[in-house]
Parts: sequence; structure tokens; C-alpha cells
Amino acid sequence: MKKSKKVLVLLGSPRRKGNSAVLAGAIAAGARAAGAAVETLYLHGLTIAPCKACMACRKPRSKGCSIDDDMQPIYRKMLKADAWVLASPVYWFTLSAQLKLWMDRCFALPAYGKDPFAGRRIALALAYGGEDPFDSGCVNALRTFQDAYRYAGAEIVGMVYGSALEAGDIKANRALMKEARALGRKLPATAG
Ligand SMILES: Cc1cc2nc3c(=O)[nH]c(=O)nc-3n(C[C@H](O)[C@H](O)[C@H](O)COP(=O)(O)O)c2cc1C
Repeated sequence: MKKSKKVLVLLGSPRRKGNSAVLAGAIAAGARAAGAAVETLYLHGLTIAPCKACMACRKPRSKGCSIDDDMQPIYRKMLKADAWVLASPVYWFTLSAQLKLWMDRCFALPAYGKDPFAGRRIALALAYGGEDPFDSGCVNALRTFQDAYRYAGAEIVGMVYGSALEAGDIKANRALMKEARALGRKLPATAG
């Protein structure tokens, strides 16, 4: 039997039912419809310390990140997943602190597996309260992901982002919700 693709969703908002989580949920629904197994992690509830730049993860024969916190199981889950969904609200014109902490700690990912970003498929889901993606800072957040994953060698398969202020308001944007499900359906496909 063909093994189903694995998708790991990382929620970067403190609002469990917030707009970025709603968009990520629609991507996850699309991925499930395409046959993928989806696991969702709510980062806000986890203990993820900032990277302390000790470089333990870059030493020869490193056993990984020296910080023993909730990132340890996440490294392994990330490597087992074929695709990652990264969801964030725009906070102060860029991504949320919760997601940035996770991102900085990904510096240690190569200590857990060879070429950990190569071939990994990524979908982005962002929500902002402002009127347009430029003035709100959404573009800053998107550019951060684009630069980081171009550098790291992962593939951004697509991104969905929209304006909404109160938690869940993004559902009213039917076109965007449809776009998010469509992105989810193509996310588990084999790269290349
Ligand atoms: C601390 C904080 C900072 C924010 N900064 C911005 C911002 O810089 N630009 C913007 O457009 N909206 C900003 N917002 C509004 C959120 O991006 C908006 O409510 C978004 O829908 C939240 O997504 P969520 O529901 O996934 O948490 C901010 C909200 C908070 C609480």
C-alpha cells in the first residue's frame, strides 16, 4: 500500500481559533482530502526557549540542540513530515514571536537529519488586521519566509493571506478560504 504523505501544521498565534489558524485549518482539510495525514501543533502552549547561539548543534557528531525543551520532539516531527504549514498573525509588521522562536531554533535541524530542508514542501497562512498586505507588514513576514527557505533549500508551494481583525472573521472571505483548501490539496504532492 502507498504510504500517505505527512503534513505538520505549526500554529503561531496565541488564538487557537484565530484567523491564521482558520486558514491553516482549511489548508489541512485540503491536504486530508488529498490523502495526507495531518498533525497540528499549537506553539503558544509549548515551552520553546530562544536560540542561545551556543553552536552545540554545529559541532562534529552533534546530538542536536543543547536546549532540552518542547522543540526536541518538534525537530523529529518536522523531519518525518513531507510538508509543513506555517501559520502566523502579523504582529508589529512581521511574524509572531511564537513562530520566530521556532524558526530560530530550526538552526539546529541539520543535527537531526541530513539536508533537512531539501525537498520539504511549505505552505504559509498569514492574517493581518490592516487594510493591505504592504502597509500591514504582511509582506515583511512573507519575505522573511521566502528568504529563509530559498536559503535553506525548501520549497514554498503557496501562501494564503488576508485581512481580518477579530478571531475567525477571515471565514467571511470565501474566496480566500477556497484558495486555502486548494493549496492544501496540492501540498502533499511529490516534489518536482
Ligand atoms: C500584538 C499585536 C500586534 C499586531 N500588529 C499588527 C500589525 O503590525 N499589522 C497588522 O495589520 N495587524 C496587526 N495586528 C492585528 C492582527 O494581525 C490581526 O488581528 C490578525 O487577524 C490576527 O491573527 P490571528 O487571529 O491568527 O491571531 C496585531 C495584533 C496584535 C495582538
